Amino acid sequence: MKIFLDTADVAEIREYAASGLVDGVTTNPSLAAKAGKDYVESLKEICSIVPGAVSGEVLATDFAGMMKEAEVLRKIAANIAVKVPLTWDGLKACAKLSGEGTMVNVTLCFSPVQAWMAAKAGATFISPFIGRVDDMGEDGLGLIHDIRAVYDNYNFKTEILAASIRSVSHVRECLLAGADVATMPASIFKALISHPLTDKGLAAFMADAKKANVTIKGA
Ligand code: G3P
Repeated sequence: MKIFLDTADVAEIREYAASGLVDGVTTNPSLAAKAGKDYVESLKEICSIVPGAVSGEVLATDFAGMMKEAEVLRKIAANIAVKVPLTWDGLKACAKLSGEGTMVNVTLCFSPVQAWMAAKAGATFISPFIGRVDDMGEDGLGLIHDIRAVYDNYNFKTEILAASIRSVSHVRECLLAGADVATMPASIFKALISHPLTDKGLAAFMADAKKANVTIKGA
């Protein structure tokens, strides 16, 4: 499963991409507003930091407007993915853009039927929002399982990009459900490798080595 950071904060992306473990980035209008910088300029910078897809979202809600903005976005870099909402105009834009070889991320997916329609429109990525489904008292991770089954049943190649991830358990469940990508805030990325027994075990190793003066000669 690929790891994407869900942020438009260039400094944050630079910091965590240095780990070599960040495959791509997703942004949206809310994250761009939070970052407070020129959106296109930030996307340019982000595309040069990570190796994989970087989603830049259209702001228009009509087909013509989306296409106009997509023209600007797709010129940014080869690894840009144009993000469109799961609406009729969005799916029309998705079909046109993917037919022209542009990567498209269809966002705001809340049902397996919506995911099927996006795949039929040629989406490169589908973004189901786990946390927001949970917020409604429904089963966000069930949605990932259902979309996996639909895509496997009909051999769709659209990648399941699990979004609205709120916890490390969400990430674990995405791995088990067979999501292709998980996009997450930096706080969750950082927490992925944390375990109290790792910290405890390391402290014990260091203490034992110090006590017996164990060294690595030549280092
Ligand atoms: O990628 C979508 C994500 O940013 C939404 O997350 O936590 O606002 O539901 P959240």
